[in-house]
Amino acid sequence: MQITTKTLDVVKQSTQCLVVAVFDGGKFSTAASAINAADAGHLETLLKREKFDGKTAQSLLLLNPQGISAERLLIVGFGATDKQGNLSSDNFRKALQKIPDSLKSTHCTEISISLEDIGVKDKDTEWQARQAAETLIASQDRADSLKSKPAEPSFVLAKVTLGVSKANASSANKGIKIGQAIAKGTSLARTLGNLPGNICTPTYLASEAKKLARGQMSLSVKVLEEKAMQELGMGSLLSVSAGSDQPAKLIIMEYKGGSKKDAPIALVGKGITFDTGGISLKPGANMDEMKFDMCGAASVLGTFKTLVELQPALNVIGVIAASENMPSGSATKPGDIVTSMSGQTIEILNTDAEGRLVLCDALTYTERFKPKAVIDIATLTGACVVALGNHASGLFSNNDALAQAILKAGQTAHDRAWQMPLWDDYQKQLDSNFADIANIGGPAGGSITAACFLSRFTKNYAWAHLDIAGTAWLSGGAKGATGRPVPLLVQYLLDSIN
Ligand code: BES
Ligand code: MN
Ligand code: ZN
Repeated sequence: MQITTKTLDVVKQSTQCLVVAVFDGGKFSTAASAINAADAGHLETLLKREKFDGKTAQSLLLLNPQGISAERLLIVGFGATDKQGNLSSDNFRKALQKIPDSLKSTHCTEISISLEDIGVKDKDTEWQARQAAETLIASQDRADSLKSKPAEPSFVLAKVTLGVSKANASSANKGIKIGQAIAKGTSLARTLGNLPGNICTPTYLASEAKKLARGQMSLSVKVLEEKAMQELGMGSLLSVSAGSDQPAKLIIMEYKGGSKKDAPIALVGKGITFDTGGISLKPGANMDEMKFDMCGAASVLGTFKTLVELQPALNVIGVIAASENMPSGSATKPGDIVTSMSGQTIEILNTDAEGRLVLCDALTYTERFKPKAVIDIATLTGACVVALGNHASGLFSNNDALAQAILKAGQTAHDRAWQMPLWDDYQKQLDSNFADIANIGGPAGGSITAACFLSRFTKNYAWAHLDIAGTAWLSGGAKGATGRPVPLLVQYLLDSIN
């Protein structure tokens, strides 16, 4: 999708569809007023007749509008403005989303959106343009590549013109560039997340990582096989793949955009390509959704895709612990005790708490990069979905500055996280009679004790854990991966440069 900026003359702009805003209470934007003047007040009469009052995400599509050059006119309600005339960022995003939704049944391939007098509280034009790019590109993502006859899409958007003032053009162009790169990363994360377990295996994830690095000077990828992991003493990670015919992979990605002496930030992703629960088998209902248990890994790959696009000046390490979790004669059993790479022994009381078992060894491995911060991303616990639902990712951290930076990045990117406690009080739930630590802490505070488990392996660096069990995919009719938290991670990384 080509996205450019222009100072729009909304009356004369020849376009397949011109998009203009009306605010709450039927208040016209400058663009809507100009059109109303050009068509002798026809627009105002029409909006009155249709009781269009500019509430968020109301929309009205006019074919062959009078008095202007555009072939179609889409009026979108952008909702309430504050005393300064600014919208909330939420309203702005919802209204943007309404644009592709309203055009689904048309055959537009090109649109022009007038953003000129739309202000968003605490946000600049760069942010607005970036949101527009992300939303419009994501609207073109499709999930039917595995249908034998994918439906013919009607609305294929190839070209978008964002109308901004001359003074804001360079800021808008910067936003478009970042938005396009984030959209590519998010789209990769969604595509990988949606792939079924019989296609997206640990080996498949490793080949995707290598594909990303192909021809890229700034990115190198290394894949450790089970034998190498054995030699490193990763008994915990390997206990998860023990029951599977698919070999586990530890995927290591190094993006080098900064100077040699800059300590890297490390992203560690849970890549369980299918989670049956193992011998502690999950119930059958909705078990198909456990193909999404590699969405942490997908978000790391998506973030690296964006890094390769943007080439920012920083160093980033990606580590993906990829495995299936299957029951079989060789599978790990409840009560089994394994030794992790850190030397700590683990009593596996429930084989369905496998995410922490692969992550702990990946987190220990990550120490060798002397990272200035480590963030792990994992669809770790159903308990996190109970606590936060599908809107916020759970954030846990042993470092307050890191936690604050992640929360802020989530706000900016509108991919929000919410901090949960990691108090010592919870640690004793992980006591084991037979090993150094048990892999479950009982039903109370399940997402917290999972984070406590990981905290035992992350004492040597600033660390944060994002539990994305509720945010990585949607269930029901809209079932599919969201690509979260790629926008948050990219924002955090870009913020870390300044
Ligand atoms: N991948 C699941 C977590 C999950 C479950 C995410 C449902 C989204 C929806 C994880 O491996 C798991 O099974 N966790 C267990 C932990 C329990 C055994 C302590 C859970 O949440 O039930
Ligand atoms: Mn599990
Ligand atoms: Zn899992």
